[in-house]
Amino acid sequence: MRSRGLIESLLVAGLALGASSVFSQDDLAAREQAAKQTVLSFAKELSGALKVALKKGGPSSAIGVCRDIAPAIANRISLEKGWKVTRVGTRVRNAMIGTPDAWEQQVLADFQARAAQGESYKQMSRSEVVEEPGGRYFRFMKPIPVQEVCVGCHGRAADLGEPVRAALTERYPHDKAVNYRVGDLRGAFSIKQPLNGN
Ligand code: HEC
Repeated sequence: MRSRGLIESLLVAGLALGASSVFSQDDLAAREQAAKQTVLSFAKELSGALKVALKKGGPSSAIGVCRDIAPAIANRISLEKGWKVTRVGTRVRNAMIGTPDAWEQQVLADFQARAAQGESYKQMSRSEVVEEPGGRYFRFMKPIPVQEVCVGCHGRAADLGEPVRAALTERYPHDKAVNYRVGDLRGAFSIKQPLNGN
């Protein structure tokens, strides 16, 4: 009797676990899809704004796009969705906004390791349900590789024009987000959704 009770309760526990993991697999896929879409529209809006600004006034005037418009878009989407939507860097210019947390650091390192094995940043992303002291979260990251257009503000000294260098030094005296080359991992889009109560 006793062992049957035990087996029964293990079975019940197993079924409950099975059922919840089937549900959360579907849920995870739906959340991943929504996160990918959100990152795509964020990236599109940002690169559109950057291109317009670069065309109009060159890199030194486009600094304002990265400084003001990128966080504004991120904030607007965060409010719309009820998620935290940000960009984090492998090295940062704005430490307050761009610094990756422990999970994000691990994922960035993993993206770099996968790239070293020949995988393309364009194909990569990472989704995970993470338990944190504050609760459960669905987390998603998508790499941001360095393109030609980025090195005017994130490249080596030779890539930065003098007005850009001066403007960056003035606004970001602790800037670490330079010396990148095309194809490097600049950082990632990162999304964090609370799961508690859902
Ligand atoms: C016109 C100059 C300029 C160009 C071009 C530029 N950036 Fe930036 N970038 C900045 C500035 C300024 C910041 C700091 C924004 C802030 O204060 O939050 C920044 C911040 C970032 C951040 C956030 C992390 C951090 O370091 O603070 C990422 C990620 C980033 N840029 C990626 C890119 C990528 C990718 C490109 C090319 C597609 C690019 N940037 C092109 C000026 C530029």
